Amino acid sequence: MKRLNSQLQEDGAPMELILLLRTLLAGCKEIAFRVSQGALAGVLGSTLSDNVQGERQKKLDVISNQILKDILSESGYVKAISSEEEDDVVPCNPEGKYLVSFDPLDGSSNTDINSLIGTIFSITHAPQWMKPDDPSAFLQPGTQIVAAGYVLYGPSAMLALTTGRGTHLYTLDKTHGGFLLTTPNVKVPEKTSEFSINTSNQRHWEAPIQAYINDLLAGTEGPREKDYNMRWVAAMVGDIHRVLSRGGIFMYPYDKRDPSKAGKLRLLYEANPMAFLVEQAGGLAETGTGRIMEVMPTEIHQRVPVLIGSKEEVETCLSYNNKN
Ligand code: F6P
Ligand code: MN
Repeated sequence: MKRLNSQLQEDGAPMELILLLRTLLAGCKEIAFRVSQGALAGVLGSTLSDNVQGERQKKLDVISNQILKDILSESGYVKAISSEEEDDVVPCNPEGKYLVSFDPLDGSSNTDINSLIGTIFSITHAPQWMKPDDPSAFLQPGTQIVAAGYVLYGPSAMLALTTGRGTHLYTLDKTHGGFLLTTPNVKVPEKTSEFSINTSNQRHWEAPIQAYINDLLAGTEGPREKDYNMRWVAAMVGDIHRVLSRGGIFMYPYDKRDPSKAGKLRLLYEANPMAFLVEQAGGLAETGTGRIMEVMPTEIHQRVPVLIGSKEEVETCLSYNNKN
């Protein structure tokens, strides 16, 4: 089976980017090991602190963030980091050529139930003019990303990665510690009969999403004339992995609970990397009013509404904006 290095070279990734990715993934392998130890290492449960998003941090959020921060800042390839678990950008090497944004442990509430979790990341070029502690260079649209991916810590540890030449899925072979290419050029089927949304928020959604979901729930007796199935992992990384593997539509739409928040998921280290992966696999990634990757960020922890998945289903969902 092909190794990560060979595929990255075949896709034309520059050597320094390959070295950065290998460094980042070494950190993810350490996270995979820490996560697998669970209660034996006393790493489950919460800390006593909240992150900048107001979410109670899990012990594994803090551990995973520290692992990635240390390995990336010592690597020399990175000028600065932005992380879900850091209030501000973390300055690294002033000569570093890249900026890395990451969610060190997505879906971390799943650590309590031994369910799916993962690390999500994206990489852009660091502008030369940029000072390492200046957040403004992170405020680039997703179209500027040079590599994005996630590592899913599940029954197997799997990597989904794109450098803009398709999306490839790799599986970690723990016997030698390498990621082996198990699904090259994964394709999201254009049609689906599976959707993913937290329906407990239904009363807060806007009218078009309400109408769209009602029609899916009506099944064969409704206007869509087929039965839909529903899945919700409560970790975006798990839900998007299912979408990449067999299609579907994943939604965390705008809702009216808190008008100051445009959605729940964060643009830089959740929505954008997943959008790049899914678009490179032939799917769509929209906010409801445009392409996720074209949103111009105004701050590093910005949130966006998310509609990601099978092309025809996302298009159908968007068409409800024009119905009344
Ligand atoms: O990181 C935010 C996140 O945990 C996502 O991974 C996940 O899709 C979503 O929030 C789950 O939200 P909820 O708590 O509404 O199920
Ligand atoms: Mn997350």
